[in-house]
Amino acid sequence: MKLVAPPSEQIGVQILDTNVTSVTPTEIEEIKQLVYDYKLVIFREQNINDSQYIEFAKKIGTPQVYPQDNYHHPEHPEIFVSSNVPKDGKKFGVRGTGRYWHTDCAFLDEPLPFTMLYPKILPKSIRETYYIDMQQVYKKLPAHLKSYVDGKYLIHEGKWRYKVQEWDIDKAIIDILRDIEERFPAVRHPAVVTHPVTGAKILYASSGFTTGIEGLEYETNQKVLPELFAFIEREEHIHTHVWQDGDLILWENRTLNHMASTVLPGEKSVSYRIGVYDGLPFYVSSEKVAEKSLLAR
Ligand SMILES: [Fe+2]
Repeated sequence: MKLVAPPSEQIGVQILDTNVTSVTPTEIEEIKQLVYDYKLVIFREQNINDSQYIEFAKKIGTPQVYPQDNYHHPEHPEIFVSSNVPKDGKKFGVRGTGRYWHTDCAFLDEPLPFTMLYPKILPKSIRETYYIDMQQVYKKLPAHLKSYVDGKYLIHEGKWRYKVQEWDIDKAIIDILRDIEERFPAVRHPAVVTHPVTGAKILYASSGFTTGIEGLEYETNQKVLPELFAFIEREEHIHTHVWQDGDLILWENRTLNHMASTVLPGEKSVSYRIGVYDGLPFYVSSEKVAEKSLLAR
């Protein structure tokens, strides 16, 4: 594979010469390792149909069927559709998804390790997706913020990002919230997770889904969380992927926070996402990584 790697400690590797429809099992293993090493992998100049896209996802791992079916492609439930363009005169997917810092499905007990994105229609003006490498953020975290997260658990909830649906009309907001809380109860994950392959320590927090540090008083959370998010979202931590026609990208949610760009009024945008489970736990205890590396010797 012909690669363009980023400077050290930066994310994103480009694969220039590989058609995702014809990757070999050896190349699949190489690609997964590239995801663990560079966090974001960009395949250039792809031209694939929906079935080929799903086939590729199945080679990488197990595609997710997203737990809310209003996001599903009508013929392919594995494809999560982000679109402001109707299909055959009907609403197609959901518009304006992911315009806040998050990692996909952090609000589930088993979050999503990998996300693939393949745009079908790129908007005219802004064609960007933004990333923050949370492994690097944890390394740079000031001591006073580190003291609030080391050894702690964070609470994650999807309910504040829920998009109201047709069937919510005539319901009180409090009842809509209760329904979502019942379907997606708040979850807890370690604030600092250990990567199952690289053993890296990663701050697992985002302003989109993280709603509390377990064990802290409400007032302390209200003070610390905005400070933590302001540090995470500093300009110098943000990597911008500028989309080219034919790009298919694959990234790791264990290490990256991401955010979609805004689509300007009147512009069209259609993007197909497939979430993929790579068969590994989302995070492990540091002891387990040490055991694994001992066994590998
Ligand atoms: Fe997302």
